[in-house]
Amino acid sequence: MTDVGRHPKIKLHTMSEVVDVKGYVGNFKVKILKKARYINENECTACGECAKVCPVVRPDEFNMGLSSRKAIYSPFPQAVPSSFLININECLGHNPVICAKCLDVCDKGCINFHMSDAEFVEDIGTIVVSTGMDVYDPTELDEYGYTRFENVVTSLELERLVNAGGPSQGELIRPTDRKKPKSIGFIQCVGSRSSRKGNKYCSNICCMNTIKSTLLLKEHDHDIEIKVFYIDIRAFGKGFEDLYLRSRRLGVQYLRGLPGTVEEQADGSLKVAVENTSTGKLEFHNLDMLVLALGLKPSKSTRKLQEILGLQLTSDGFFLEAHPKLQPVDAATRGVFFAGCAEAPKDIKESVTQASAAAARAIRLMHKGEITSEPITSEVIAEHCKSCGKCAEVCPYNAITVDVKKKTPAVVNTASCAGCGTCAAECPFGAITMSHFTDKQITVQIDALLDEKPEEKILTFACNWCSYAGADSAGVSRLQYPPNVRLIRTMCSGRVDENFIWHAFKKGAPVVLISGCHIGDCHYIDANHWTEKRIRKVHKKMEKRGIRKERLQLEWISAAEGIRFAEVMNKMEKLRKTVSDQEIAETVEKLS
Ligand code: FES
Repeated sequence: MTDVGRHPKIKLHTMSEVVDVKGYVGNFKVKILKKARYINENECTACGECAKVCPVVRPDEFNMGLSSRKAIYSPFPQAVPSSFLININECLGHNPVICAKCLDVCDKGCINFHMSDAEFVEDIGTIVVSTGMDVYDPTELDEYGYTRFENVVTSLELERLVNAGGPSQGELIRPTDRKKPKSIGFIQCVGSRSSRKGNKYCSNICCMNTIKSTLLLKEHDHDIEIKVFYIDIRAFGKGFEDLYLRSRRLGVQYLRGLPGTVEEQADGSLKVAVENTSTGKLEFHNLDMLVLALGLKPSKSTRKLQEILGLQLTSDGFFLEAHPKLQPVDAATRGVFFAGCAEAPKDIKESVTQASAAAARAIRLMHKGEITSEPITSEVIAEHCKSCGKCAEVCPYNAITVDVKKKTPAVVNTASCAGCGTCAAECPFGAITMSHFTDKQITVQIDALLDEKPEEKILTFACNWCSYAGADSAGVSRLQYPPNVRLIRTMCSGRVDENFIWHAFKKGAPVVLISGCHIGDCHYIDANHWTEKRIRKVHKKMEKRGIRKERLQLEWISAAEGIRFAEVMNKMEKLRKTVSDQEIAETVEKLS
């Protein structure tokens, strides 16, 4: 961090918050709110004279409330910039100035109570989102007694207690009597892997963090008794198993099973009741201290940033990468990358690896000085646009802007547009056209495919990335499927306009299949959600018009699912055979 602070080409905005982002890759305008520090950070030498005279005492957040700080303070010893700040909400009064003791002792005149928050805009080419994570709040887990017993601490609190710069100068002491504990227990998966309270996912780092802590504690005091209560130990990284075995060799006991209750004894020690799932027996353990190995959760800024940048979140609430294997550090929005726990819980090594990858991806883009935009983008036909805003609503990339109030035609930012075609399919006025996948081009394909003996054809719209590739996979694997299948490729299933379906039925198609990537796998973030909605709407309309809705099918087929592709096609063939010539003729008549 110090290096970052000193680097001539890095501008570091501390105490700042991103409040808005406009623009697109290479041309982002980022609005930043810089909070007032009330101290001139260039003049302050962090001598600490001001803090000595400040009468306000507050819990020190950096030490997890285990020590105190003043209202004028440095957040932590290695903070960059090395300058104090004033928490103006805690300060005894600057307006009017009541106390001002700090002002009197600061001979460099760094303190300025008239500072105010400032808002400014930075021109940014690429953005790396590295908002980190928060830890699970264990107060809701009453059975572990975190809110009732002082000697139950969290893994972060233990970190501070054993840290040389911490509140006890690295001396492990029991909070109740400040004595050295003789025994200590760790409860794993607090707030992780739970369907009851906390999060369902594994937080990735807690097992190794506990193993590291046990080694550290054994280094401090070889005779300390340590027990770890766990579901299973996940030591899957390089060298991690060795650390685990070393911890066991040092005498740390690993007990399979999570405690059911924790009770405090008269001497402040804790009685832990646990069912040891290895032996199937109920055990009681007396421990001087208990540590809750807290799981991780997305940082609280995640939601806000997601809205500002138009990003996607996983069901766990972390940022969703563009592709888990091929673009693991890219956001679906071009020019935005992820680093660290913003994307998922990860340890330091993984975070550094991802941060290096994100920096390299950003440099690669910036170095070129220009970007190649996709040739397949949407275009607005201004004279047809009624500024309804539907296109902007469905665009997964926020690439379309439309001023609904001023009624100006929608504008597509081609640098942001990825070409899924959902906007063109959803526009009720036909005011959007997709280059290379225009309505006319697709309609002509339908006409050609259903030109002869349409009643024998299975008309299939297949998305480029999954189901079309699934057809390839079926072909390469020499899988048999009906020869009367006719494919029309679109970039995404989101491009399949309702009119294409009606047109196909009007041309005599017995059945129509729309196929695309599985939900969650769409290459255009969530464009296939719109496909699903649209098909539901068309089904309702079909029912109203007296057309069997089964004749329109929606199937998700991935690129690797050649077998599934063949199975779906065989199913479609069976369905086709149920559609009589008379039914087709009636449909054609109804739609004409
Ligand atoms: Fe396949 Fe969207 S890319 S459904």
